[in-house]
Amino acid sequence: MNDKLDKARKEINEIDKEMAELFLRRMKAAKDVAEYKRDRGLAILDEAREKEVISKNSAFVKEDNLRDLYVSFLQGTMNLSKIYQGRLINGSEDGCKGKIHINLGSHGYDIHLGRGMLDRAGELFNLDRRVLIVTDTGVPREYAERLGAQCKEARIITVKCGEESKSFELYKILCHEMLDFGMTRTDCAVAVGGGVVGDLTGLAASSYMRGIDFYNIPTTLLSQLDSSIGGKTAINLDGVKNIVGAFYQPCGVIIDPDVLNTLPQRQIASGLAEAIKMSLTSDAELFELISNDDVKENIEEIIYRSLMIKKQVVEADEREGGIRRILNFGHTLGHGIEAAEEINTLYHGECVAIGMIPVSSTEVREKLVAILEKFGLPTKYNGDIEKALSFIKQDKKCDGNKISVVFVDEIGSYRIEKTDVESFCSLVREEYKI
Ligand SMILES: NC(=O)c1ccc[n+]([C@@H]2O[C@H](COP(=O)([O-])OP(=O)(O)OC[C@H]3O[C@@H](n4cnc5c(N)ncnc54)[C@H](O)[C@@H]3O)[C@@H](O)[C@H]2O)c1
Repeated sequence: MNDKLDKARKEINEIDKEMAELFLRRMKAAKDVAEYKRDRGLAILDEAREKEVISKNSAFVKEDNLRDLYVSFLQGTMNLSKIYQGRLINGSEDGCKGKIHINLGSHGYDIHLGRGMLDRAGELFNLDRRVLIVTDTGVPREYAERLGAQCKEARIITVKCGEESKSFELYKILCHEMLDFGMTRTDCAVAVGGGVVGDLTGLAASSYMRGIDFYNIPTTLLSQLDSSIGGKTAINLDGVKNIVGAFYQPCGVIIDPDVLNTLPQRQIASGLAEAIKMSLTSDAELFELISNDDVKENIEEIIYRSLMIKKQVVEADEREGGIRRILNFGHTLGHGIEAAEEINTLYHGECVAIGMIPVSSTEVREKLVAILEKFGLPTKYNGDIEKALSFIKQDKKCDGNKISVVFVDEIGSYRIEKTDVESFCSLVREEYKI
């Protein structure tokens, strides 16, 4: 038996050595692909090609028992290849998180991630002009002032904190301020705040004089790892969220994790819900990191990995649709709950947390509930679930009575199913035993 074992181990060692050599060859080819994509501003993610490679290569494995494992092996290799290409394209082969470039051709921009980056805005952004800085009453004033000190000529506007500020009234006030400040086409606006300030400022910048430069300095965890990428700007109308808006990419983004030191714990947890969402569909390691390690210590890594997921999706699909739908995981019910909560008692991330449960498999759900509880996030909606479901039917993403729903059966992967609204509602009712 020992002989057999030794022989098998020897063979595995030899194969591993050959595989290491093949791995190096594969990564060399991946590097060439990365350079080609970088030079043409193309996205790293190529879902159609990945599917084709998996189906073609797995056909060579004749043993049924091994085919599934080979598919996982290929997926893992392709994921590593994507990470490697991402690092090369971002000019950070060593995985340094300093700068992430969003490849959107002429709309591309850099995200500067790192502690203390707020004080480097003058060097990273062009602030040698009139700069309208928009912040809100909940954001420590010091952040906008530290930015203002780096501008040639700055005016700070502070709007009331809260979702109500994403309104026509505030949009108009910002446009008035720009006019009054004498801003021209060559001046710029900077948002210093969470998603509310970012969405409102971005929209005003997109339309003042048909568009002026916009920079974003997100200060909540949610806005740092989510709304800072994607170029979505919007305000609300008649209680309908984000119904008036534009796709408008910023010229640059600064993410300084140090500003999170002043953010209340409940807001941190709400942002983590979005990171958990990204990990569930796309990055099992990120899920492990959030589950097992010290979140405060690893916050930069969590932001970085979430951004890399959103970056790949956004680059592949700048406007809504297709793969971008994976970002909506947990959002179908989440948005319904958010709409049902007239006075916004629940935060966005909290609604998403609840929304992820019915669309996760039993095994995933067990781990998901544990991680949500770890951060004091809700796992069940205590309000009027029928009211929440009624809003799903009115959702702007609803195509006739069909909706695309993202399901996670296994951490790190997803499936999208087009289903009718009623079937989705039944799934939720079953969860709530209605
Ligand atoms: N554009 C997008 O792609 C996108 C994506 C997700 C969410 N959103 C939008 O973002 C909004 C939610 O954003 P949010 O969760 O960042 O909420 P938010 O902007 O309302 O901020 C939450 C609270 O934190 C306070 N705050 C912000 N930074 C702080 C800091 N560093 N220290 C202490 N307090 C601080 C704010 O004053 C506010 O009271 C929603 O309107 C949502 O629609 C947009």
